[in-house]
Amino acid sequence: MATVRVGPPPRGLAATLGVPGDKSIAHRALLLGALAEGTTTVSGFPGGADVLSSLGAIQALGARIERAGDVVRIEGAGSRLGSGGRVVIDCGNSGTTMRLTAGLVAGGRSTVVLDGDHSLRRRPMERVAAPLRAMGATVETTAGHAPVTVRGAALGAIDWTLPVPSAQVKSAILLAGLGARGTTRVREPLASRDHTERLLAHLGVRLGRAAGSIEVEGGQRPLSAAVALPGDVSSAAFLVVAALVVPGSELRLPDVGVNPTRTGALAILRRMGAPIEVVDTHDVAGEPRAELRVRAARLHGTTVTPAEVPGAIDELPILCVAAALAEGETTITGAGELRVKESDRIAALEQLRTLGVAITATADGLVIHGTGGRRLGGGRVESHGDHRIAMAFGVAGLVAEGGVEVADAGVAEVSFPGFFARLAQLGAAVEGV
Ligand code: S3P
Repeated sequence: MATVRVGPPPRGLAATLGVPGDKSIAHRALLLGALAEGTTTVSGFPGGADVLSSLGAIQALGARIERAGDVVRIEGAGSRLGSGGRVVIDCGNSGTTMRLTAGLVAGGRSTVVLDGDHSLRRRPMERVAAPLRAMGATVETTAGHAPVTVRGAALGAIDWTLPVPSAQVKSAILLAGLGARGTTRVREPLASRDHTERLLAHLGVRLGRAAGSIEVEGGQRPLSAAVALPGDVSSAAFLVVAALVVPGSELRLPDVGVNPTRTGALAILRRMGAPIEVVDTHDVAGEPRAELRVRAARLHGTTVTPAEVPGAIDELPILCVAAALAEGETTITGAGELRVKESDRIAALEQLRTLGVAITATADGLVIHGTGGRRLGGGRVESHGDHRIAMAFGVAGLVAEGGVEVADAGVAEVSFPGFFARLAQLGAAVEGV
């Protein structure tokens, strides 16, 4: 799917609909399932390109996979994982696959070459290479980027303070720490998503958790288990904002993950005036999930502080679309990490200007002056090969006079298979161009 044009629906969006399973947890379930002995069953598997990269990675390392619909069964390789030789892994577009796999194999006996697509090759990899080197692995990057070569070695524990909050780097260190001598500690200045910690605990690994730090004793192996994934709140966020900005909408999204390290965007939207209800919260496999209920509302601008950024990092593109429709100004600061995501998201979001939005980029954020609910202008934008940019502008199309044409929109499949078809089912005017 090359270019897609999304235009306003004739009436509000009204439905109860599921979203794909959580991508972050899916990556972790695959990698930890590969490290376990026995069979791990992952249900609600989202099946986007990113998680298929992790699936390919663990197969290359010796895990056996069976997939039927949204259920993936992993026959773990246990101590045989990556047992010698040279393994080349194509991580595609997935930073999570690359960084977590680097940690997974750092204590192994193989030489693993991790490569990826054009976008992944421009993302920073020293942040994960440095701690793994400090533990004893030999890690070579290509001027700080992929391809990354990891030569496994007997590892020693480290005490590492993350210079930038990153769940991927934290997770890589914890995965390496499982096989290291001694107790590995990771300290994080601001809390990043804690799915690795929760899943490790669900799989029987003992962890020490304190405010701002987490430690794991070496010599532990996760147990195999059933992992039922909740819906991905990052995917849900696109539909939540769609419902907020299209007048007359009312959506219910059952069974969405509401881990507090992931729901920052919901809190920010609520502060902007969004009526979002979180109903029937309950835990499954150590992760809270709930039904989200949302209806259209007038939004007002807000200030997103640096401390809020890690909890809303993947939702900032769609929050910018909400801000573009809000009354008054929205300021985002401390979000320099957006520049090293699947694209430079700050630069990509500046394309809102093409749709008539007053937007200014700063080094680490954006200032957006919203229309106060007035429709955006139509226009053509580029996805920059970035799934979340493609989907954010798709949602903008729902409230753009004449619609928005998104070039290279097929990249949405990286995290949300069938996203544009879903918008069409909801009544939006969606056509391939
Ligand atoms: C992810 C962590 C975040 C996030 C990414 C997924 C994860 O990246 O942006 O989409 O699954 O651990 P960082 O850890 O680099 O902040």
